[in-house]
Amino acid sequence: MSTVESTPDAGLAAGPAERYVPRPTGSAHRRGPFTKGDRVQLTDPKGRLHTVVLEPGKQFHTHRGAVEHDALLGRPEGIVVTSTGGTDYLALRPLLVDFVLSMPRGATVVYPKDAAQIITYADIFPGARVLEAGVGSGALSCSLLRAIGDAGRLVSYERREDFAAVAQRNIETFFGGPHPAHTIRVGDLIESLERDIDRVVLDMLAPWDVLDTVSAALVPGGVVCAYVATTTQLSRVVEALRGHGTFAEPAAWETMMRNWHVEGLAVRPGHRMVGHTGFLVTARRLADGVTPPVRRRRPAKTGLADSTSADSTSAVPASAVLGAGPAGAAAPSSDPVAPVPDGPSDS
Ligand SMILES: C[S@@+](CC[C@H](N)C(=O)[O-])C[C@H]1O[C@@H](n2cnc3c(N)ncnc32)[C@H](O)[C@@H]1O
Repeated sequence: MSTVESTPDAGLAAGPAERYVPRPTGSAHRRGPFTKGDRVQLTDPKGRLHTVVLEPGKQFHTHRGAVEHDALLGRPEGIVVTSTGGTDYLALRPLLVDFVLSMPRGATVVYPKDAAQIITYADIFPGARVLEAGVGSGALSCSLLRAIGDAGRLVSYERREDFAAVAQRNIETFFGGPHPAHTIRVGDLIESLERDIDRVVLDMLAPWDVLDTVSAALVPGGVVCAYVATTTQLSRVVEALRGHGTFAEPAAWETMMRNWHVEGLAVRPGHRMVGHTGFLVTARRLADGVTPPVRRRRPAKTGLADSTSADSTSAVPASAVLGAGPAGAAAPSSDPVAPVPDGPSDS
């Protein structure tokens, strides 16, 4: 196993008056007038995006003419620059959402809508110690690092060296250099000896295989969050968490995001959407030696009641279930689920 340690960013930012506070890694290129080295997203009138990295004296060329980088340097975000061919471009720094959807990929990335859910429902907090596998292209790592900040610690396992290298590059590009809270380890998470971890985030083919490692790593009350692509993986990881004996009742859910077209009287859902990305599962680590509470369910009275929803037959209100997760997603399934032979390729 090899390790890539990041080194601290020594930059300081002026705080109120006499107070100086360390500048959070990556923040230097996220505010203020455009400076050398900034990534800038130019949007043309048709909504097409072009990303440039600003260098004095350079030009950005399209078939609609050239834009001088000097026309952007020293100027605020949100300006419009005009190419020599007369085309207007809106100039903004890309947001993390823009960056992860356009960055080079080794493996499939966690989509921003799911990364947002992970940050909130896995309760990723500033200063948290987080363990992650696999790092893939590093998209989720960027969100995790932003949430934990420089005072946190993120250890990301990736068993493919080539993916780890892609992720390292993407993360350093986004933060403008190495992140002091980040370590990538090339190897299988199952080999990890990490301890005292607050949160574990799994985006990998077979999260059920690593639950002993996860359980040993997590502090009591810690959260494990798994992101899986298929229903077979979903049932297998939930049942494995239930059967493990060191986790409270898991919560499982998915999120669908639909954009809306809003123009005059034409206010309607967009014609296209990303129909499916993945399912999320969270569970809390119990204290050592504690047996998970037995979940009691009221038996279904009729076939009709049985067919309405698992929530309606549960004696435990969804909001009272121990696992993290959105209200309503935490209610336990009423059916036992058989293990599945395999899952999808996570490349
Ligand atoms: C879908 S990708 C992760 C994408 C990443 N979360 C992102 O947002 O860019 C899944 C990754 O998990 C890695 N992987 C699968 N099983 C693993 C394991 N047991 N330990 C470490 N990495 C693993 C794969 O090599 C693959 O790169």
